[in-house]
Formats: sequence, C-alpha cells, structure tokens
Amino acid sequence: MKPNQVLVKTVDISKSFSGVTVLNKINVEIFEGEILGIIGENGAGKSTFIKILNGTYTPSEGQVFFDKNPVYIRDTSVAKRLGISTIPQEFNLINDLNVYENIFLGKELTKGKYLLDKQQMKEKTNELLQELDTDIPPDAKIQDLSVAQKQMVEIAKAVAYDSRLLIMDEPTTVLTQHEIDILFRLMQRLKEIGVTIIYISHKLREVKRICDRVMILRDGEFISLDPTDSLDEQEMARRMVGRELNQIFPPKTTPQATTVLQVHSLSIPGLLHDINFDLHKGEILGFSGLIGAGRTELAEALIGIRQISSGQIVINGTKQMISSPIDAVRNGIAYLSEDRQGTGVLTGFDVASNITLVSLDEYCKPLIDRRKEKHRTEDYIKAFNIRTPSTRTLLEYLSGGNQQKVSLAKSLDPHPEIFIIDEPTRGIDVNAKKEVYYFIHDLVKSGISCILISSEMEEILGLCNRVVVMREGRITGILEAGELSEAEIMFYATGLKEGA
Ligand SMILES: Nc1ncnc2c1ncn2[C@@H]1O[C@H](COP(=O)(O)OP(=O)(O)OP(=O)(O)O)[C@@H](O)[C@H]1O
Ligand SMILES: [Mg+2]
Repeated sequence: MKPNQVLVKTVDISKSFSGVTVLNKINVEIFEGEILGIIGENGAGKSTFIKILNGTYTPSEGQVFFDKNPVYIRDTSVAKRLGISTIPQEFNLINDLNVYENIFLGKELTKGKYLLDKQQMKEKTNELLQELDTDIPPDAKIQDLSVAQKQMVEIAKAVAYDSRLLIMDEPTTVLTQHEIDILFRLMQRLKEIGVTIIYISHKLREVKRICDRVMILRDGEFISLDPTDSLDEQEMARRMVGRELNQIFPPKTTPQATTVLQVHSLSIPGLLHDINFDLHKGEILGFSGLIGAGRTELAEALIGIRQISSGQIVINGTKQMISSPIDAVRNGIAYLSEDRQGTGVLTGFDVASNITLVSLDEYCKPLIDRRKEKHRTEDYIKAFNIRTPSTRTLLEYLSGGNQQKVSLAKSLDPHPEIFIIDEPTRGIDVNAKKEVYYFIHDLVKSGISCILISSEMEEILGLCNRVVVMREGRITGILEAGELSEAEIMFYATGLKEGA
C-alpha cells in the first residue's frame, strides 16, 4: 500500500471529563485508503478519540483537520456530512423498529415528496445484508435478533452511507471466524475504493492481519504509530501494557471426581435437542460452536430463563426444577450474560449497585448496608483492576471493557457453586484477560465448577479441562483433555465429524 493523501490530521487533541484528562495531546495523520488500527488497554482512550472524530464529543483542546481544512465537528451530523460513519462499540439500534427502518433511520428513502418507499428500503437492506452473507430478514424486529445479528445490522448501517472515513470500534467482539472473514473481505473492498478505516480491537491477531498501521495509546497518551508489519503481537501487548506480559494462561488444575451437575436428555423444541453432559467439581468445561449452535440457549435453560420441555437437571445428586433465575441462584448457579448491554449491567446505576444487584439480599438488614456494599465493591475494583473514579460512578461513564468487568463481579457476588460464563473476556484488554483467567483458575481451585462458553479458541484451549462442541442445538462431540485441538473442535462445530 502506498499511502499518499492525508485525510484526517489531529493536532494536540485532548479531552478531559470533569477535570480528569483521558486523552492528552494526540497528533496523528491518517492517510486516505489505509486501515489504521488503534489498540490500548481498557480505558486507554480509544473510544474517546474516535468519538471526537465522529462528533459525539468535542475536544477540550486541539484541532482536527479533514482534507487539509480545519473542521469543527460539533455534533454527529457534521461528521455525517463530512462522510464519517461509525460502527459503535455499544449497539445503537432501536429495538422496536425493524432492520430496514434502523438502517435508513434519518435518511429514509421516499417516493415523491412525502411517501416512504418501504419497498426500495427493504430491497436495499437485503442487498447490504446479502453482501455480508447473512440471512437476516429486513422485516425482523431488532429485539428478536441475536447479539451477533445486531452487530451485522450495525455494520450494514454504517456501510450504507457512502463514507470516506469508516470507524469500527470493536466490531468483531461478538462475531465468530466466519463473520469476521466476511467483514475483512468487505473492509478490503472498501479500502480498494479509497475508503479510510479506523479499526479498534483487542484481538491483536486481527489487527495484525487487517491493519496497515497501528497506533498504540496508554492512559490517554500516544505511545507509538508504526506499520503493522514491523510489530508482532507480543510487542503490541508489551507497548499497550507498558511492561512484559508472559504466561497469559494459568496452569490447568485437575477436577475432582464428584459430579456437581448432570444434564439428561434436555430438550426445548426447535432450540435444543437431547442434551446430555455432566460437570465435575472444580472443572472448567468449555462449550464451543458456531453462532447459533445453541450454547447461550442452553445456558439460559440452566438458569431458568428458558423453560425446558423435557429432560432433567440434577445438582449434587438431586433432581431440581429450575424455572426462574431465582431458582438458579438458590441452587448455586450463577450466570454471566454474553449480552452486557441487554441483560448484563444497568448503565444508569452506579458501580456498587450493579455489583450487588443479584445478591442484594445479603446486604439487607433490613436496610441496605451501604458500608458493606462499598467495601465489597472496593475489593472487586482491586481484584479486577476496574477503572472507575469511585464506587458511586454511574456505569455509563466507564469504558466498555470496564463495564464488562463490573458485569463479571456482579455475577460472582452471590458466591455460586456452578458458574456459567458466557464470553467473559469480550472487549477486555490482554492484561485484564489474564486477570480474568487467573481469577477463574482460583475459582475452580476453591471448588467452584465452571461452564465456559467462548468463541475464542485460544481461551477454550488454554483454560478448559474438557470441551463440549455444539451444532444446531445438539451436542456433536465431547472432547477429553488429550483430544483438544482447534482442528478437532472445528470438525465437530462444522459438522464434519459427529460422535457424541
Ligand atoms: N462521558 C464520560 N464521562 C466521564 N468519563 C468518561 C466518559 N467517557 C469516557 N470516560 C473515561 O475516559 C477514559 C477512556 O475511556 P474510553 O471509552 O475512551 O476507553 P477505551 O480505550 O475505549 O476502553 P475499552 O477498551 O474498555 O473500550 C475511561 O477512564 C472512561 O471512564
Ligand atoms: Mg472503547
């Protein structure tokens, strides 16, 4: 690639929130037609930087140039006029509207002067979605879509504009390899026609694969900007964290012989078919599969969000009816949801209230014991290195990865015996990942059993004692420690092998 024209230039861009500087004098030139990666730890300022470019925030200091002209991007409409569009880190879709209405929101196609041209909007939407190789119906309501499907709609919505600068803030956290490949092909095509792309991700392997150059931020400071070819993943991680990072995964522990959970012939018509597996005390049992394999649905059945139509759940030798999340908590089962925004955390509540949301009973005597709540919250803030000004800060002011850490703390606070973790490291940086892995390691060492649902192959291989592979609502294979490999898991996940 030969970058030539500078599309965006920032001069001494800084941003503070109530006196705290979160970005300090960022100077960067972004070339037309390049893919620029931005990496950095949670809270490093990546989203803040791109929100200054897309008009969500105005800089406290500094100047942005677009096409050599100084520009004042005072709101998002100015950014749109310049041709800047964004796939945001947190979804920005309207739940009661359907897919095509969301995609054309604010730029509806009309017949004549006033009449909405629904037909044309639907057709266009169909084209966009087909290009992304997804079969989401344009008429579907957003609320009925899975997290991954919502992400695909966000992508379609952003590319529906003829943009000159396309900003992607962690677009692949909820996607599996197949969709990531599709997205990368699309990015290459856009690049070829001269679109500039800013790509934020914690998946360093992807950054290495798709980006021409990579900018590293740490604590709001500019650290470096280099061609991606000149850095390996290890070096990226080192610069992000500011020190050497080795041994991401803790050593594996051996589970105990006791079975804590047995699932027999569990079915939900149309979703789950004849599910059988067991979980040992102190085990990390991985669940692998492609999107739509039914892993989250199974987790939801185990915690009483979905009603099972047949089958049995046996906990510590006794058959249990789990028909609500309260039953699950009573039976010692906790769940970390994959959908942080939907069911994970309440952004309008503060950090402490989020963490004690499920376990509140424990803090009532009968009034909420605020001191205990505060102490416990401080413990979690320390354990997970959650970046927040205080225990009373509203969650919406935390960076995405730090919200995820709060969500994790919240699901652990009731002290579960069985912990179902759905994509625990989504959107968190390498260092925080390591903290989470060691934390899970400590949990199983203390006798807690974990079900780990993850789309990150490395995580599954690095942490789990055994791995259950699902496909289309069925278990296709259960791999023992000695059989674990990426290839083997993919065989079962894609249906090339079946053996359960
Ligand atoms: N509206 C806001 N008010 C107050 N503080 C904010 C606001 N938005 C962001 N911050 C703070 O600015 C810092 C940088 O946040 P930012 O969202 O840019 O991080 P990030 O690099 O995108 O992290 P992540 O990888 O977790 O998404 C964080 O400490 C965050 O708490
Ligand atoms: Mg962010």
